[in-house]
Amino acid sequence: MRQAGRCLPEYRAVRRRVDFVSLCRTPELAAQVTLQPVDRLGVDAAILFSDILVPAESLGLEVRFEPGPVLDRPVRSAADIDRLRLGDPREQVPFVYETLRILSRELAGRVPLIGFAGSPFTLSAYLVEGRGSRLFEQIKCLLFGDPAAAHRLLEKVAGVTEEYLLAQVEAGAQAVQLFDTWAGLLGPQEYREFGLRYVRRIFDRLRDRGVPLIYFVLDAAHLLDEIRGCGADVVGVDWRLDLAEASYRLGNRFVMQGNLDPTVLLAPPAQIERRAEAILARSGALPGHVFNLGHGVLPDTPVEHVEALVRFVRQYATS
Ligand code: CP3
Repeated sequence: MRQAGRCLPEYRAVRRRVDFVSLCRTPELAAQVTLQPVDRLGVDAAILFSDILVPAESLGLEVRFEPGPVLDRPVRSAADIDRLRLGDPREQVPFVYETLRILSRELAGRVPLIGFAGSPFTLSAYLVEGRGSRLFEQIKCLLFGDPAAAHRLLEKVAGVTEEYLLAQVEAGAQAVQLFDTWAGLLGPQEYREFGLRYVRRIFDRLRDRGVPLIYFVLDAAHLLDEIRGCGADVVGVDWRLDLAEASYRLGNRFVMQGNLDPTVLLAPPAQIERRAEAILARSGALPGHVFNLGHGVLPDTPVEHVEALVRFVRQYATS
């Protein structure tokens, strides 16, 4: 569950002492907060504590968090794109790999360790926009106004992302997830051209590493025919889709991940269980199912509600 840590008092206690960027850059602390949801909630996997904007440093860009990512100098022109350097993430963001090495040692196989990155389109959307946005008009201006420059940007971001993830696997990540939070803003044709082909390239490069490849897309209903060709093993979707229908439209060839609406976790536990059961009851028909939320945990979620959900899903799975 992405950003599950934020609802934990022990995470907030660490954050009172250090800001988010320093936390990501300090391997001992990043490893500590990675383990918090595993220890407290009993979830089945640990997800590296970092952010999809961290590898932007490998391209020579500076990012702040307030709490969402902000770039004071976003990438806007063809000249900005050509200036981006292609650093080796092992040298530019060594703390990510040190965090993974500490975690593999400490977890010692207790639960699998998941590494991640943003998809080239989603990361580029932040780099061009400079911050989160409802419609991401700036990246769309670039795609439609100067497609050649957009492809140069996506190429560079995909190249860095590929290396960034390969090195995560070398450092101990046992599965990798690409987050495509903003792909849903594209129509199918634009998604094929500017989104999917770079995702496919990354998964093709990682395939022979022997780790499960997970692709999460928010708001994906209109893109399922295209996503069929993504090259992942697992596809994660949000609550806007019925999991069984999404699986069918994807050709029943992926393990499905998801897809409880994180807002459900604000309701009383009995209601949470009712909604979770509705998802689980249909999962028998799927080629495989990783129960998850459809998007990140909301910061005001009561931690007892998340604990109740994990207990319920675990009990259901073993009954
Ligand atoms: O679960 C985890 O903590 C794992 C690490 C993780 C974070 N971000 C930590 C984080 C992961 C996997 C992400 C992914 C991420 N980051 C995505 C893709 C998934 C998604 O949620 O769509 C995106 C789009 C981002 C960019 C980002 N980073 C946003 C929009 C925000 C603000 C979130 C908000 O609603 O406040 C962040 C900050 C961030 N990343 C926090 C954490 C724990 C909050 C920082 C804090 O206040 O302590």
